[in-house]
Amino acid sequence: MSSYKVRKTPGNTEWFRHDRFGMFIHFGLYAMPARHEWIKSIEMMTDEHYQRYFDHFNPDMYDPKDWARQAKAAGMKYVVLTTKHHEGFCLFDSKYTDFKSTNTPFGRDIVREYVDAFRAEGLKIGFYYSLIDWHHEDFTIDSPHPKKMLPDALEQNKSKDMRKYAEYMRNQVEELLTNYGKIDILWFDFSYKTDTSCPEFARFPGKGKDDWESEKLIALARKLQPGIIIDNRADIEQDLWTPEQYQPTEWVRHKETNELVTWEACQTFSGSWGYHRDEMTWKSPEQLVGMLIKTVSLGGNLLMNVGPTARGYLDYRAEAALKVYADWMKYNSRSIYGCTMAEPEFTAPQNCLLTQSEDGKRLYIHIMDYPFKALEVDGLADKIEYVQFLHDGSELFYDDKIKVMTDGDTIEKANESGKVTILLPVVKPNILYPTIEIFLK
Ligand code: GLC
Repeated sequence: MSSYKVRKTPGNTEWFRHDRFGMFIHFGLYAMPARHEWIKSIEMMTDEHYQRYFDHFNPDMYDPKDWARQAKAAGMKYVVLTTKHHEGFCLFDSKYTDFKSTNTPFGRDIVREYVDAFRAEGLKIGFYYSLIDWHHEDFTIDSPHPKKMLPDALEQNKSKDMRKYAEYMRNQVEELLTNYGKIDILWFDFSYKTDTSCPEFARFPGKGKDDWESEKLIALARKLQPGIIIDNRADIEQDLWTPEQYQPTEWVRHKETNELVTWEACQTFSGSWGYHRDEMTWKSPEQLVGMLIKTVSLGGNLLMNVGPTARGYLDYRAEAALKVYADWMKYNSRSIYGCTMAEPEFTAPQNCLLTQSEDGKRLYIHIMDYPFKALEVDGLADKIEYVQFLHDGSELFYDDKIKVMTDGDTIEKANESGKVTILLPVVKPNILYPTIEIFLK
């Protein structure tokens, strides 16, 4: 058994740590301007201006069954959709607002169809729900808000009542957690401090648990969906630590107790969460698969994002990126599901990453840079039962007596170092990162 003890929290995180890989979906009106999901704030658009997107929202090619099929093929086991992002637009038929997909030309409850489609493919269902709301009249203007530069913003705030907004959120969370069956993850986003980077921003306080009334909000969610996993972004620590757009270099720990926690890195294929037509920093296949392996090798999960187009489909770049995962996961998922950080007794050979099954019986060496003929591994002497490549189940020979010459390409007898040498074919197998599977004694 894995010796790593993970901090216990109220939600049911066991399945989550087993499954390791999920799909994030950022979909909303911002898919139409197609230049970042924060566009309303970045370009400081008025509500009147933004209305044009609402009036023309019609993702006629929306086919969540197709999204779900692609997610499943990529090896993703759960999914999290933006039911409402910062713009305030709701993808579900809420009683408490008119600013929802059912009132657009599209006229459909996007959340309902999403839930049905992904559930049918066997994925666990998550809802992202933005705490920030740039549409609600009671949400006070602050530094992320589109109206942040208005000279009379503080004056305008006097007539707004965040208590009413907090109640609105509870009402909507109640709808989301009542009307769509079992929901496995609730992903709130996000809390922030005063931004002092410029005087116009510094006049606003940040927002956190008192503004959201997070305690009540979370209690409600827990009552409606016992076992649901909730992230930490409502400013009260819950189940899930969510490093965003960077890769931790070690297992994330609790700040006070130093315990290992359940964590999930969230990442984008390119630099934006919502569909961004002209953004060009798409990650390479090596980076994509590398991020997944790296994350699991540190005991974490990866939530990889797609931003569907305004027509409702995943564009060719997103499809290609998902295919990269599909091609690798088809053969290597055994080194991801049910796997975690390898026991400390094993050290990764140069240019390799390790994962190990939770039951401790299988060790995986992910070869990130394919070497010439052999890999020397510390800590394995007398522990090996059988070794093979994972992708094709072909046997690999190993020996604790042979040593790799440092001055040439030959291998000679007489290794005194106690290391085990795994012999590899000269030609790298036709797989992005070959993985060695070791059955341990
Ligand atoms: C940030 C951004 C947001 C995105 C989220 C995903 O908080 O505000 O656009 O939804 O990160 O983690």
